[in-house]
Amino acid sequence: MSEGPWILGLSCSHNASACLLHGDHIVAAIQDERLLRYKRQRTSARFIRYCVNYCLGAAAIQPRDLNLIVCSSILGSSDRDVDDIWLNDYIRAAYFKVPLLTITHHLAHAVSAFATSGFRDAATLVIDGSGTRFECLTDDEQAVVLNDDARAGDWEWLSYYESHDTVLRPVFKQVLHPHTFDQDGLEHFGSIGHMYAAVADLLFGDFLDAPGKVMGLAPYGTATFPVDQWLTVEDGGLVRFSPEGLREAKRRCRDERDLPARADVAASVQRATEYALINIVHKIRAMSASTNLCYAGGVALNSVANELLVRQSGFEQVYIFPAAEDSGVSVGAAYYGLWQLEHHNTRQRVRHDAMGRIYDGGRIDRAISSTPAVSVRRSSNIASDVARLLCHGEVVGWFDGRSELGPRALGQRTILYDPRRSDGKEILNRRVKHREMFRPFAPVILRDHAQDWFDVAPEEQDSPFMLRVWTFLGSKATLVPAVAHVDNTARVQTITRDVQPLLFDVLSAFFAETGVPLLLNTSYNVAGEPIVETPEDALFCLMSTGIDCCIFDDRIVRKQEGFKSLLDLRPRISAKAIMADLPVVAGCVMASADDAAVAPSPWQDALIPFEPSAMWHVRDAVRSRSGSGSRMAYGLVQTEWGDVAVLIPEQYFRLLTKIDGICDGHALLDTTCGWSEKWLLTALAGLYRASLIRFSCASLSATEGKSTD
Ligand SMILES: [Fe+2]
Repeated sequence: MSEGPWILGLSCSHNASACLLHGDHIVAAIQDERLLRYKRQRTSARFIRYCVNYCLGAAAIQPRDLNLIVCSSILGSSDRDVDDIWLNDYIRAAYFKVPLLTITHHLAHAVSAFATSGFRDAATLVIDGSGTRFECLTDDEQAVVLNDDARAGDWEWLSYYESHDTVLRPVFKQVLHPHTFDQDGLEHFGSIGHMYAAVADLLFGDFLDAPGKVMGLAPYGTATFPVDQWLTVEDGGLVRFSPEGLREAKRRCRDERDLPARADVAASVQRATEYALINIVHKIRAMSASTNLCYAGGVALNSVANELLVRQSGFEQVYIFPAAEDSGVSVGAAYYGLWQLEHHNTRQRVRHDAMGRIYDGGRIDRAISSTPAVSVRRSSNIASDVARLLCHGEVVGWFDGRSELGPRALGQRTILYDPRRSDGKEILNRRVKHREMFRPFAPVILRDHAQDWFDVAPEEQDSPFMLRVWTFLGSKATLVPAVAHVDNTARVQTITRDVQPLLFDVLSAFFAETGVPLLLNTSYNVAGEPIVETPEDALFCLMSTGIDCCIFDDRIVRKQEGFKSLLDLRPRISAKAIMADLPVVAGCVMASADDAAVAPSPWQDALIPFEPSAMWHVRDAVRSRSGSGSRMAYGLVQTEWGDVAVLIPEQYFRLLTKIDGICDGHALLDTTCGWSEKWLLTALAGLYRASLIRFSCASLSATEGKSTD
């Protein structure tokens, strides 16, 4: 049992998260997006609650029991109250007299990597899109900014710290000016993260989630743009960016169907990223007294660039924190708090990205028994049974212990598949993932077999967090086409029995059966949805996709014979309340004949969750986008982590008005006009994830009362 202070670290950003330490032990760490089932959930310091409740609940403590809270916030709202954690009604730090510290964004990233590296000393590098504003940096950090024109309003995006025990000394830092656009609407970016995101936005219309797609597309193309069209690196390490690369990319990508041209753009920006990273790291190597490198920040998820860094940086050891993007900032904030209280570092390497809470057998059984239309079988040898199912071509959902904090599924909430199938990618995409076909799937491999399959030295064959990319040896890739990328590489996760015994045994059984020591391993979710967290999330993903079965310890759960889709079930409203703003005219509430009429959501088709006490802020935001007289609809729902309000777009609101708890999905489809089956399935799944509805079996007599509560 751990001893020491209870310390809560918070990251308030577009990847809001919390981390609870007891002494130097991570009790739990989670992103809000996993709990609210809404990707990239943005949460500000005043309203952060659900991830905090989750972490404190894992330890059965209350906010009053905390010894310290450390918060890192980068939302930078114009409304300062929104960023003020002292105003947080759930944490109530002032009332409970809990000390509170704040920490800058890159410092928190840096601490997350160094504190979990096990190193006594290291050079620590952080690269992302943007972090803390220049005027909010400490004097020490401002003093090492390389840009001679840095000013208030700029954002840090690259930082290098010399790290020793509990001291991180800033050595150099680079900031960027806020985005500007030229007369052609062309974005002038100022960081590697924003450069990559600008290309992701150009190619896929999504700057936050699509950078991974750019990396996946790059090997299909050729880097035909000169690097200096994107950036140059000066002798002192200062990176200067040029908009010419993006201008040229825009010109070449006028035709959306011209995949080769788009792939060339992806390859070009990837090469520029690698060039800058290697140049910067070589400069750091020349300056650092340490032979160890720690690395974090969103750009550290670029596993292709990481591989170059591991092989060419000149550092003897390289450690990359698995939650390298902003979810990991809460871990850094928490360890920074520990350093302030206890003045010692952990010196223990994090070897397993499994930081969520435990769901015991009783909880799993309750989730299964309350899910309609499933059956369960217990296995006396789950490892060999799962290996056999995989050999038979089944898509297996794998739920094992604590969830991962970072964005990669690493065997805790994972979908497994036979990598030998040449149609594996197509099957997984058609039945579950619905991703672009150019995107690769990744393998998990028994660590001691890695050198037999990949071009990697025995002493370097560790990749526990899927942050490296290796080339297949010889013709090995032809044996596992479902996980081989077009350039004969794979983004690999290695596992060992001491860290992940159950999955290790499955891989061993599959190896014994087939001679192949690896499996396809992809995240347990559908496109656009956060990775599943609870047993209920995993079961719903089973019910709403083409996954064949889900494994919970020794349980094999399947859909019942004859079940085809969510339309076979009866949805019923489970929200506490659903409301639509009604205008007041001449002192009267105007309840029109068509109460279902609300304004189309300014955020398209998204069901957006928010903390109920943030209602006035959300209402202001809606009206600033869609007009002061517009009516919004919202629901109030109960979740395990607290009550949540949900902004409901017009079409979803109309669907909710049709749900009576009696009609099944087929009847809903018959009684409504203009909804396709595909849209209705998507909408029902969205309403379920937002906790606005639950499902019961359509057959009232046989399964009355059995529902997915
Ligand atoms: Fe960041």
